Amino acid sequence: MKIAIPKETRDSESRVAASPEVVGKLVGLGFEVTVEKGAGLGSSFTDDAYKAAGAHIAKDAATALKSAEMVWKVRAPAGAEVGKLKKGAMLMASLDALTDGAGMAALAKAGVTAFAMELMPRISRAQSMDILSSQANLAGYKAVLDGAAEFGRGFPMMMTAAGTVPPAKAFIMGVGVAGLQAIATAKRLGAVVTATDVRPATREQVQSLGGKFLTVDEEMEKDAETEAGYAKEMPPEYFAKQKAVVAEHIKKQDLVITTALIPGRAAPVLVTKEMVASMQPGSIIVDLAVEAGGNVEGSKVGEVVTTANGVKIVGHANVPGRVAESASSLYGRNLLNFITPMVDKETKSLNMDWEDETVTGTLVTKDGSVVNDRVPATKAATKKAPAKKAPAKKPAAKKES
Ligand code: NAI
Repeated sequence: MKIAIPKETRDSESRVAASPEVVGKLVGLGFEVTVEKGAGLGSSFTDDAYKAAGAHIAKDAATALKSAEMVWKVRAPAGAEVGKLKKGAMLMASLDALTDGAGMAALAKAGVTAFAMELMPRISRAQSMDILSSQANLAGYKAVLDGAAEFGRGFPMMMTAAGTVPPAKAFIMGVGVAGLQAIATAKRLGAVVTATDVRPATREQVQSLGGKFLTVDEEMEKDAETEAGYAKEMPPEYFAKQKAVVAEHIKKQDLVITTALIPGRAAPVLVTKEMVASMQPGSIIVDLAVEAGGNVEGSKVGEVVTTANGVKIVGHANVPGRVAESASSLYGRNLLNFITPMVDKETKSLNMDWEDETVTGTLVTKDGSVVNDRVPATKAATKKAPAKKAPAKKPAAKKES
């Protein structure tokens, strides 16, 4: 089977859907792999490294995609890219399928069999295929480093001959995969860490990483988790209480990292303008949910905003792309882990198991139709989650990956 890995085209995406290591594994499984020229450069993977792993290098996307029966991408194909996909080709990518119904309809119309990898069911067997998890983990790590880079003090307590530097106080809001990694990273840097989440199961996880849990309302949090392990949208009473508890706590924090997401909906606002105004000058907030509408009032996609009281709100876009080499390596392994159980090792052929939960969960288009009922109808779907608008590209702006 022929598989293509084109260069990503959206918003200077620095990731690529497979590392040379993963390409080598695909070749070993019997795939004929074509990588578009320069596809890996944003992740420090050269064409030569792909060639050494057994891939062909195609001069452009059209050549790479022309005869490909399977296509791996990081982001959904945009515009004319869809027309380059062969009818009947299988596409595996992060498709934003829960909000981009129009995009899914276009893929269906093009006759593409598309798998939205972000919809991978959260079952133990599929943990190694979960792109949300692998990318969020890196985002959590990088958010702390991005925050530390903007912060004018050290993180650990330092006792020096010239005097003592107190440890930084870090507060992590939303303790999913990204939040847990942010706690671990902030702890490793020596910060004093507190964290909060609507899901009560996270209390022990925070404590086991050496952080202190900030409880909002134990009673309401009992019903805060879906069967799939995600947060539910909380009632207004909860938000009122959360606001009061957080307002008191946040005043004393040096670094705040927000990671709260609700699948398919706009991110909840957790840090209000008033809270930002109550913080000390020099404090840093990193809004990891900025592209989903933002957890922080005043955050802007792709910008570091300095407020009137000297607080910096960091809103980098595509944070996993800021650790592109690791992000691409893990992403490619997620996809490899998805298809490997369906490859017949003897005949070296792929036999898709259309009944398997990992396939039924992620499959969004097949035989010209949208086949996943979690994808919104085309009309409604054009109303996406209200993402904050990225600023117009300035020629000499610092590189945003
Ligand atoms: P996410 O990225 O959807 O959300 C991030 C965090 O924000 C979550 O912990 C959520 O509870 C929290 N949150 C949402 N609204 C909030 C609010 N109003 N206030 C405070 N916090 C709020 O979540 P993520 O990282 O995808 O993880 C969700 C769960 O799924 C975790 O328990 C994780 O361990 C589990 N998981 C399971 C996998 C598997 O079994 N295959 C793979 C990956 C994660």
